[in-house]
Amino acid sequence: MAVKRVMAGTLLKMKKAGEPIVVLTAYDWPTAEVEQAAGLDVILVGDSMANVVLGEETTLKMTMDIMIAHCAAVAKAGGRAMLVGDMPFLSTTISVEEAVRNAGRFVAEGNMHAVKVEGGEPMVPTIEAIVRAGIPVLGHIGYTPQQTLKFGRKVVRGRGEEAAVVLRDAEAVEKAGAFAVVLECIPMELAKQVTEHVGIPTIGIGSGPHCDGQVLVVHDMLGLSGDQKKFVKRYADLKAQMRAAIDQYASEVRSRAYPDESHAFTDDK
Ligand code: KIV
Repeated sequence: MAVKRVMAGTLLKMKKAGEPIVVLTAYDWPTAEVEQAAGLDVILVGDSMANVVLGEETTLKMTMDIMIAHCAAVAKAGGRAMLVGDMPFLSTTISVEEAVRNAGRFVAEGNMHAVKVEGGEPMVPTIEAIVRAGIPVLGHIGYTPQQTLKFGRKVVRGRGEEAAVVLRDAEAVEKAGAFAVVLECIPMELAKQVTEHVGIPTIGIGSGPHCDGQVLVVHDMLGLSGDQKKFVKRYADLKAQMRAAIDQYASEVRSRAYPDESHAFTDDK
């Protein structure tokens, strides 16, 4: 039986029903398979891949071609989750026309169902044009890592007077046609206010418990990335498990304990 895929309307119904929306990033096929099997609602192929897979300090080095290759890999895992491709640095800002063309690549070559666009009010014409082209857009406001050269590495956004900017951004992104919006690292009181104020679902990361859904970078929650951020709960320590397995392999090869004859081919088996 064909699976009923999560769509923008599904997420809206979940918001209205108070049912939390579960989102994680994935950058490769095996991780996406596990996430699909776990029944996640949305899988985001995030440009955070620059940090946690490619070892870059910022997401500014990410390119369209790398994103598209990894989106296509993630899309090979079948399942119900909506697949969202993250539009990388400069792919949305050179011109609206180029942004629409790039968004189209996520769908046509990357097999994504939607794209994520970083930025609030200034991105309205871009979001409107992508939505007009028939591609659903997930907004992303609050801390926006692609703006790191402009705002620095100050992570928490929307404290004090800046709260009004975040609220305006949320309203603008909704009005432009985004089907949901990521709220990254804003105070939880503001996240609650935005969530109650806008009609579209809010997906929080580092923005507390009052959002309609939550997203994390999968490497962070599995213990595969280096730094421990305040808002990340570690659900596993895969780096330690990998290290133990690799240490054991190295030791067994050195001691000739591996491979033994059971791992070898013979003339007939
Ligand atoms: O790139 C990414 O993984 C993201 C999430 C942190 C929302 O933008």
